[in-house]
Amino acid sequence: MANSSIWLLGTLAFLLCNAHIKSSDQKHRPSYHFQPSKNWINGPMRYKGLYHMFYQHNPKAAIWSNYSIVWGHSVSKDLVNWFPLPHALIPSKPYDIKGCWSGSATMVHPMGRPVILYTGIDFKEHQTQNLVVPKNASDPFLREWVKSPKNPVMEPSNANKINATSFRDPTTAWLGHDNLWRVLVGSQEGDRGMALLFLSKDFVNWVQAKHPLHSAKRTGMWECPDFFPVLTNGTIGLDTSINGPHVRHVLKVSLFDVSHDCYLIGTYDTTKDVFVPDHHKGFEHNESLIPRYDNGKFYASKTFYDDAKKRRILWGWINESSVPEDDIHKGWSGIQAIPRTLWLDKSGKQLVQWPIEEVEKLRTNPVTLHSKILKAGTLLEVSGVTAAQADVEISFEVNELEKAQMLDPSWKMDPQLLCSGKNGTEAKVGLGPFGLLVLASKNMQEYTAVFFKVFRTNKRYMVLMCSDQSRSSVNLKNDLTPYGAFVDVDPVHEELSLRCLIDHSVVESFGGEGKASIAARVYPTLAINDEAHLHAFNNGTVHVKITTLSAWTMKKPNIN
Ligand SMILES: *[C@@H]1O[C@H](CO)[C@@H](O)[C@H](O)[C@H]1NC(C)=O
Ligand SMILES: *[C@@H]1O[C@H](CO)[C@@H](O)[C@H](O)[C@H]1NC(C)=O
Ligand SMILES: *[C@@H]1O[C@H](CO)[C@@H](O)[C@H](O)[C@H]1NC(C)=O
Ligand SMILES: *[C@@H]1O[C@H](CO)[C@@H](O)[C@H](O)[C@H]1NC(C)=O
Ligand SMILES: *[C@@H]1O[C@H](CO)[C@@H](O)[C@H](O)[C@H]1NC(C)=O
Ligand SMILES: *[C@@H]1O[C@H](CO)[C@@H](O)[C@H](O)[C@H]1NC(C)=O
Ligand SMILES: *[C@@H]1O[C@H](CO)[C@@H](O)[C@H](O)[C@H]1NC(C)=O
Ligand SMILES: *[C@@H]1O[C@H](CO)[C@@H](O)[C@H](O)[C@H]1NC(C)=O
Repeated sequence: MANSSIWLLGTLAFLLCNAHIKSSDQKHRPSYHFQPSKNWINGPMRYKGLYHMFYQHNPKAAIWSNYSIVWGHSVSKDLVNWFPLPHALIPSKPYDIKGCWSGSATMVHPMGRPVILYTGIDFKEHQTQNLVVPKNASDPFLREWVKSPKNPVMEPSNANKINATSFRDPTTAWLGHDNLWRVLVGSQEGDRGMALLFLSKDFVNWVQAKHPLHSAKRTGMWECPDFFPVLTNGTIGLDTSINGPHVRHVLKVSLFDVSHDCYLIGTYDTTKDVFVPDHHKGFEHNESLIPRYDNGKFYASKTFYDDAKKRRILWGWINESSVPEDDIHKGWSGIQAIPRTLWLDKSGKQLVQWPIEEVEKLRTNPVTLHSKILKAGTLLEVSGVTAAQADVEISFEVNELEKAQMLDPSWKMDPQLLCSGKNGTEAKVGLGPFGLLVLASKNMQEYTAVFFKVFRTNKRYMVLMCSDQSRSSVNLKNDLTPYGAFVDVDPVHEELSLRCLIDHSVVESFGGEGKASIAARVYPTLAINDEAHLHAFNNGTVHVKITTLSAWTMKKPNIN
């Protein structure tokens, strides 16, 4: 996938040369997040009882280069403990000599073998799609892959007028009603981003459809498209080729210009082979209104269907927020979010995401508390957990909703702006901010606040969730942007729940049982390892009740 030096710079490879790195430099290194050398996901999949993770990697240097990007490869039985294998793909042919970029795996038949389509970069920096098959499909580790002699199988030409430097990231293929395979490739024409559609009988000979599956003006390049079915009445996942009653479709694209993974829910019209989003404006909406998987840092994500547990799993890449000099100093950069199970919310209007259940195997030393009033303006320390490496779940009951701050109709309904405290939301009035202070130093010089604030309008209540990095480190060189999202919960009838996965320099937060998520990177200098503290807090002017709080220290799994 993506080729921009702008954000590639932010993803310097983690070196396998820890011997050169003093342990004191590793204070920000996550412990239970997958951390390959580079972190774009290629083709996650499950085969013969093993989960496979392929990722972009530069074996020659700690930094990305416009040469020689390869596919790294790791396997796992549980998506938590990972073991490295030799590289799956390396540049070796004229069509990929400058790099093997992102792609996807497809199981060609339920009992059959997997194939991979990936983007190759040639000497002229032109992008083509290429096919590889396992050398030995009986090998559950799929150690060796063979490039098809028919490559490239999709390429820009004078006839198709595809922009040769904007043609990448093939999706997992799905089988249509006519028994033809279909695959999407991200592209752009002027400022119109698009998901080009290709069809094939045999995975080798591909024909471009007359129309893209979907496109939108003023959206720029679409990277890493993803297209998959979701069920309207249940949380189980569906194989990518499933369609029919009770099925809706999701189109996700990684908007290169803004570095956001945005998605639309809609209908896949199989006769016209187009995707019709429920909201006619689709991706052309104002940027802050387009639904995102995650309102923090989360890009170039991909889903796959896990047939073992009948679920759709989402993998995303979480970039660093530190400056490149610091990344070079620590010798690694970029991590993988904890895989998330994803399904359609009961409302049908949004997706819900929750960390895979396997991650709970890492929980140890539980600390719990029930029914505790958190008075206005107070702080409650949660001791007994390793706060730098923890999983925390907390839920709140709010009363006195009439005391919620009024949301001024003149304010821009931009959650990120509201979380930044602009527009008077910093005022400590009403219901919130209340939530967790994570990675807090002893004297509160450093902390990351993850919280809710309840607003009222004339018609209803609105719950804002924020992750505020502004006080996360005394090192002010880092990107301290606050992140925010509205959570579609009804504070009159529902508790407000928050879960934070804290891992040294990562805070992944889930609000409303997965209706909103925010991944943030923070680099405390004081609140590290055993010096980190965890608190619940209420900075509003109204008491709230903690119904339950559970916190666990997280064990360290095997990561490569
Ligand atoms: C890599 O990209 C840089 C900047 O675009 C260019 O100057 C250089 O020639 C490229 N290197 C190779 C080996 O293609
Ligand atoms: C293919 O893989 C299977 C399972 O690992 C192994 O038993 C077999 O020897 C392999 N075949 C070849 C030709 O390497
Ligand atoms: C082709 O893609 C490049 C980015 O690689 C972009 O700068 C250029 O504007 C595109 N050209 C057209 C005609 O869309
Ligand atoms: C969804 O509803 C249909 C029809 O009512 C039913 O056949 C199917 O089993 C339901 N699926 C789930 C997962 O509940
Ligand atoms: C975004 O919203 C503003 C204000 O609501 C409006 O003026 C503007 O035209 C919108 N932009 C787009 C691209 O729809
Ligand atoms: C990577 O991080 C930098 C610094 O926070 C940010 O500006 C950039 O948008 C991020 N890129 C992606 C793809 O998330
Ligand atoms: C809200 O914030 C925006 C952007 O900072 C500003 O332009 C506007 O004047 C503010 N409105 C109010 C009512 O504070
Ligand atoms: C809570 O209020 C105190 C006192 O005004 C302030 O120092 C602190 O920064 C606030 N904390 C948060 C997370 O808003």
